[in-house]
Amino acid sequence: MCGIVGYLGPAQAAPVLLSELRCLEYRGYDSAGVAVIEDGQLSVMKAAGKLSNLEALLLTKKPAATVGIGHTRWATHGVPNDQNAHPHMDSTGTIAVVHNGIIENHEELREDLIKKGYVFNSETDTEVVAHLVSYEYKVDQDLLQAILRSVAKLQGAYALGIVCQRHPDKIYAVNRHYSLAIGLGEHESFLASDSMAVRQYTNKILKLEQSEVAEISASGARLFDFDGKEVFRKPVSMESNPYIIDKGGYKHFLLKEIHEQPLVLRKTIGKYMSHANKPVNFVVTHNGDETPSYGLNFTDEEIKAFERIHIVACGTAYHAGLVGKYLLEDLCSIPVDVEIASEIRGRRMLVNEKTLTIAVSQSGETADTIAALTEAKLRGSYTLGITNRPDSHLGQITPNLIVTECGIEVSVAATKTYVAQLTSFYLLAIYLAEVRGAVTPERALQLKTTLNTIPMLQERILAKEVEIRKSSLKYAEAHDVVFIGRGLNFPTALEGALKLKELSYIHASGYAAGELKHGPIAVLDANVPVVTVVVPGVVYEKTLSNAQEARARNAQMIAVAVEGDEQVAKMFDTVFTIPAVEELFSPLLTVLPMQLMSYYIADYLGKDVDQPRNLAKSVTVE
Ligand code: F6R
Repeated sequence: MCGIVGYLGPAQAAPVLLSELRCLEYRGYDSAGVAVIEDGQLSVMKAAGKLSNLEALLLTKKPAATVGIGHTRWATHGVPNDQNAHPHMDSTGTIAVVHNGIIENHEELREDLIKKGYVFNSETDTEVVAHLVSYEYKVDQDLLQAILRSVAKLQGAYALGIVCQRHPDKIYAVNRHYSLAIGLGEHESFLASDSMAVRQYTNKILKLEQSEVAEISASGARLFDFDGKEVFRKPVSMESNPYIIDKGGYKHFLLKEIHEQPLVLRKTIGKYMSHANKPVNFVVTHNGDETPSYGLNFTDEEIKAFERIHIVACGTAYHAGLVGKYLLEDLCSIPVDVEIASEIRGRRMLVNEKTLTIAVSQSGETADTIAALTEAKLRGSYTLGITNRPDSHLGQITPNLIVTECGIEVSVAATKTYVAQLTSFYLLAIYLAEVRGAVTPERALQLKTTLNTIPMLQERILAKEVEIRKSSLKYAEAHDVVFIGRGLNFPTALEGALKLKELSYIHASGYAAGELKHGPIAVLDANVPVVTVVVPGVVYEKTLSNAQEARARNAQMIAVAVEGDEQVAKMFDTVFTIPAVEELFSPLLTVLPMQLMSYYIADYLGKDVDQPRNLAKSVTVE
C-alpha cells in the first residue's frame, strides 16, 4: 500500500503530483504529502487524512516548483498523523524520501543512526532511509552512489522516491520487489507506483524491475541494478487508458460498480468465448512488440498432465478462489487447494511440475499473493494469474493471465472484480474440462449457454434494488450479523460477511451452514440477523435444516433464495430473491443482494462507503 509519485519538467509540479496522487488514493488515504524543490530550496508539505486536506494546504502555499515527489499513505509504522506523513527529510533538511513497503531492519538502522547523532522526528521506518542516504551522501557527495550504498543496507520489500536539494534536476527511484513506473513525456518525466497514474500524461512507460534504481531527469531515465551497473531497457508504449473519476450519476462509486456487473460479465465472457458452441479461447493477444500480451500458454498435453491445482489469494479474491475450487473439482475432476496467500509464508509449499498454481488478485499487486506465486514458480509449478491489471506485478511474474474486463474499480471494497474473478473461474473450468475430456460436448454447450444468460439474470436482481434497500435497512441497527451457506455458497456467505463489515463496520461472520451447530450458534439470539444463502440443489434441504436451527434460537431470519420458493417464504422474515438458475452458477447471483444490502446499510449509517476506514485497495505489504 501507499502510493509514490514524482514529476520533473517545465510545468508546476504540485498540480501534477496531486493528479497522480488522486489516481493512487486507492492505495491508502491516511495522509498525503509532497516535497518540492523551488529556488534551490527543498520544502515538504503534508497533511493527515484524505488527499483533499493536502490539496487545501497546497492551495494556500501555492508552490511554483517544477520538480517534486509525493505520497499517499496507508499507515504501517506509526499512527496516521502529520508527523508520520511522508515525505520524510534527513536532518539537514536537504533530502526527502517517500516510501512504499516495509524496511524490515529499520530498528537496527535507527539505533545505529541515533548513535551517529541523527535525530528522528517520526515513528516511521521510512525516516531511516532519509538519514541513511544523508549519511552515505556525506562520503562523496554522489547521490546515486549514496542511494546504492544505502539500499545495500536495507532489508525488506519496498519502493522509494528520493529528491535532494543539491540535485534539483533529478529524482531517484528505487524498486525492490514492488512496482514503479516512469512515464517519459516531451522534456518531462513522471513517476508513480501504478502506471495508470502516469498514463494520463504519457503512454511511454519504463517499468522498474525488481532490484533497480532509476535516475530520472526531464529528458529521460537511466536505470541501474543494485551493483550500480547500468541497465538498458526500452520504454514500452501502453494503450492509453485515462483514469476517469466519474460516478456516472450514482451517489457512490461502489453503487455504480455494483450496477456495472452485468456489463463487466458480458465483456469478460465475450472476450474469451465468442459463442456458446465454440471452445473457450484464451488466446495470447499480441498488439505489436511493445505492448504487453497475455493469455494462456499451456499445451493440451500440459493441461492433461496437471495433477493438482493450487489457488492463492487474499480477501475477496480468496473467496473467488473458494468458488473456483468447487468448479474446477466438479467440472475437471482435478483436486484443488485454496490458500490464503499470507498463510503460505514460512511453510513448505507442496507444489511441483505437475501442479498449476493460480494467483487471484484484482490489483495484481497484493504482496502476499505475489510472494506465494513466486514461491510456487520456484518450486517448478505452472503458474496462472487472474487479474484486472495485466500491467501489474502479477502480470510480470507469470506468462499466463486471464484478464477481467472490469475497468478501474475505484471503490475500495471489491464488487465487480469479484464477480469477474468468479466468471474467469467458470471460463477456466469449462476450458480445462473440455481439453481434458472431463465433460461431454453437450454438457459443455449447456454450461456455456447458461454462463451467457447470467448478465441478464443479474440485471433482474439489480432491478429490485428499491425493495432490497427497504428490507436491508430493517437490519441497520444490528451489532452482529451471521451469514451462512453451504457448498458453492459457503464462499458467498464469507463474502457477504466481509462486505457488510468492511462497509458498515458492523461485526459480521460467515460460516459453512453445517458448522453453525459446532460453536457459532452460541452467539445467536433475537438480536442477531442470520443471512442464509439457500438455493435449490444438492445442499438445499440441509441448508434449510441449518437455518431452522437458527430460527429455533429466535434469530432474525433473512434468506437469499430463488423467486417463488414457498418453503423459504414461510420460514424467513426477509427474502432477497434471485432468478432460478442451475446451482453451479448461483454464486454469480447470490452475492448481488448481499452487496446491495451492505451498501445501503453502510450509506444509511453515514459511513464512507467508497473509502472505508483503515483500508487500502492495493495491499502491497506482507
Ligand atoms: C475486499 C477487498 C479485499 C481484496 C484483497 C485482495 O472488498 O477488496 O479483501 O480482495 O485485498 O486484493 P487483490 O484482489 O487486489 O489481490
